[in-house]
Amino acid sequence: MNYKAFGRTGIKVSELIFGTWYLPNNTAEGKRIVNKEESIKIIQKAYDLGINFFDTADVYRGVYERDTSSINFENIGLAERIVGEALRGYDRESFIISTKVMGRTGPLQNDMGVNRKHINNAIKKSLERLQMHYIDFYILHAPDNITGVEEAARSMNRLIDQGLIYHYGLSNFSSHELMKFINLDYLESPKFIQDKYNLIEREQEERNIKVAEENSLASMIYSPLAQGILAGRYFSKDTDNARANYEKFFKGNDLLNKNIKALEEFRNLSLNKGVSMAQLSLAWLINKGKFIFPIIGATKIDQLEDNVKATEIKITKEEMETIEKIFKK
Ligand SMILES: NC(=O)c1ccc[n+]([C@@H]2O[C@H](COP(=O)([O-])OP(=O)(O)OC[C@H]3O[C@@H](n4cnc5c(N)ncnc54)[C@H](OP(=O)(O)O)[C@@H]3O)[C@@H](O)[C@H]2O)c1
Repeated sequence: MNYKAFGRTGIKVSELIFGTWYLPNNTAEGKRIVNKEESIKIIQKAYDLGINFFDTADVYRGVYERDTSSINFENIGLAERIVGEALRGYDRESFIISTKVMGRTGPLQNDMGVNRKHINNAIKKSLERLQMHYIDFYILHAPDNITGVEEAARSMNRLIDQGLIYHYGLSNFSSHELMKFINLDYLESPKFIQDKYNLIEREQEERNIKVAEENSLASMIYSPLAQGILAGRYFSKDTDNARANYEKFFKGNDLLNKNIKALEEFRNLSLNKGVSMAQLSLAWLINKGKFIFPIIGATKIDQLEDNVKATEIKITKEEMETIEKIFKK
């Protein structure tokens, strides 16, 4: 594993981050449920493979529950609890944690948002679930479209002053909002972003990723494999336990069908280079910028092992261009 500075924070993190939106899960009594034992195993395996950075969120349940009409808060924070349990035996200084605040975590009026009342409550709950004293990188998960930029930034600054978080970042904000935060120069500004970016979803390249690069912010990249599509997950015959098959709102099939020719060409390119599609997709991202950090969402140990090998791949400038051409056709 290679380690590099997380933007201007100077904190050394692994080139790949382990994400916990989805954890190993299976069907029981007609419902998808998280397999806690397997989840702990995969987190510890990631640590053993050299990943020192783990991403979670207060709203992560390990399996996405999109049915908000019958919102059930029972599993809120399950991913944080599992991360805490998996890493409890390790030296806290040997790993980095990011978690997020904004999404609804309970039935009360202020059980969501980036207002001070919710942030102060949410950080306490996240620390309790993680069984930790501080969060390295705390993230505003999305704008709430009500709380002012300065108000949200001040709340994050207070947490920094209290030693509860080291730095904060923004996820799913517009470039315009991101710039507003960066320009609050009398307050500590966000040091990183977290946005979606991969070979077939490059919308952020000229937006937040560019703003981040210009301002030396680190970019945590989510869905680096387009939820498995870029790993060739849906070329495999064994898709019973694949996200698209149990996640009814997964838009992947559309993305898959639209890109099928390019994906086949990309598969051939990977085969010729002797690497997997997942490895080449991740290596492309890692090589896109010195502060780009893909968050991998593997739900199986073999996927994790496959993805980690991406850090060993050397890609030339010509290969980068060839890869990009395939998906630009
Ligand atoms: N800030 C935000 O709003 C936000 C949003 C989304 C995600 N995130 C973060 O980003 C992390 C990663 O997102 P993501 O899960 O969408 O990432 P992803 O890497 O694009 O997709 C992960 C899925 O791809 C498949 N996969 C992974 N490696 C594979 C391999 N080597 N071979 C075949 N299939 C493979 C697996 O599918 P199966 O499980 O189907 O086997 C896995 O669940 C999340 O865990 C979370 O921490 C943040």
